[in-house]
Amino acid sequence: MSADAEPFFRITGQRRLSGELRVNGGKNAALPCLAAALLSDEPSRLRRVPDIEDVHRFLEILSALGVESDVAADEVVVRPSGVCSGSPPDGLAAALRASFLVMGPLLARTGQASCGAPGGDVIGARPLDVHLAGFRALGADVESIGGRTVATAPRGLRGATIVLDYPSVLGTENLLLAAVLAQGQTRIVNAAMEPEIVCVADMLNRMGARIFGAGHNTITIDGVEQLSGADHELIPDRIETGTLLIAAAATRGDICLQGVRPDHLEALLSKLADIGATIRRSADQLDIAVPSDAQLMATNLQALPYPGFATDLQAPISALLTQVAGTSIVHERVFENRMQHLDELRKFGANIIAGGAAPVIIGPTPLSGAVVRGTDIRATAALIVAALSAEGQSRIFGVDHLSRGYTDLAEQLRDLGADIELAQSADTLTN
Ligand code: UD1
Repeated sequence: MSADAEPFFRITGQRRLSGELRVNGGKNAALPCLAAALLSDEPSRLRRVPDIEDVHRFLEILSALGVESDVAADEVVVRPSGVCSGSPPDGLAAALRASFLVMGPLLARTGQASCGAPGGDVIGARPLDVHLAGFRALGADVESIGGRTVATAPRGLRGATIVLDYPSVLGTENLLLAAVLAQGQTRIVNAAMEPEIVCVADMLNRMGARIFGAGHNTITIDGVEQLSGADHELIPDRIETGTLLIAAAATRGDICLQGVRPDHLEALLSKLADIGATIRRSADQLDIAVPSDAQLMATNLQALPYPGFATDLQAPISALLTQVAGTSIVHERVFENRMQHLDELRKFGANIIAGGAAPVIIGPTPLSGAVVRGTDIRATAALIVAALSAEGQSRIFGVDHLSRGYTDLAEQLRDLGADIELAQSADTLTN
């Protein structure tokens, strides 16, 4: 099957990564912080905003809601005074999961909100029950009308104790965004503890909110009547940082990443140390070094909610584990369908025994260049890691997935010495 010209990455592997770079601000911090800006009449300035498709689309959603924004380099000023109680256009809602994050702020500010089915990576069922149960607990009426979620709270939201069935990241953020303007106190119990929750809570507190305990499993919010604008810098992208560390280990490299938060990556750093990589860390810098003749050793891991091993790094580290000696078992416990990269890794020659959500990876297996397709953001990143360690040339399709979540991964890798270029061809992958 040949389709129209489609971009792909052409990678010639086995170049040792070395050098230093500064990582970008976090994708998963940018989206809730852009949503938080909706909660005030005043402008908010966000700094260190990654230049990724999901941010572009979120800004388009804000524009459709009557909110202007100015983008200059990695700063975005959001001017929310004209916000209306509209709904994100369905096509944009379906483009990313985080589109649903407009629900909390719109409900809090205008008393009504609606959104079509949010999209994003196809890695599991991804229900919305945590968000919806929380909105109901805060006093909203929530209905599904023709596939859209419609929530109304004509008399405003009221603080409540909300016990989450699962510590959903976007669910916790949506409820935080709704509760800051609710009357009285809200407690979110079994909250997600990801650093991105802390980042958006810090921004909201700068705007005048009263949020206590973000980053812990119970968050308390004392509702306030109104919020001002804020000037807020996003945390570094821990998944970009982790992907680069993994790529360095896979090429037996030696790199230094600046402007990072090592404390956000404890689970990954511990696994990299387990397999034999040498890590040096300071407050905002990480160095990883793996000698070219080093024999890395197998490890087992489980992808879990934070502070467990990040599910977003499960695919990239699986590619690395094909290059370590022994048997590694990788257990995915967050998303039920996040193993689509495994068949593609096998095309490089990887020895992986399917095990449902816990495949067994046997290594080290010499990888050879392959033509493969990434099916989501992190799967595409994993295939790039495999291609970097493979002998010969690979072609990686699924570039559009990668640009949703990584600002400039290919350029970063090239700066570190990888042989990677973006190419265009009508000769697309046969499925
Ligand atoms: C966020 C991240 C994503 C990351 C994920 C887990 C953003 C924009 N995306 O996604 O990169 O992989 O956290 O760290 O921040 N669930 C329910 N009911 C709900 C919501 C979720 O059962 O109402 C389940 C999901 O099906 C999944 C699990 O909870 O099995 C985790 O999902 P969740 O934490 O909500 O992930 P997202 O917030 O969508």
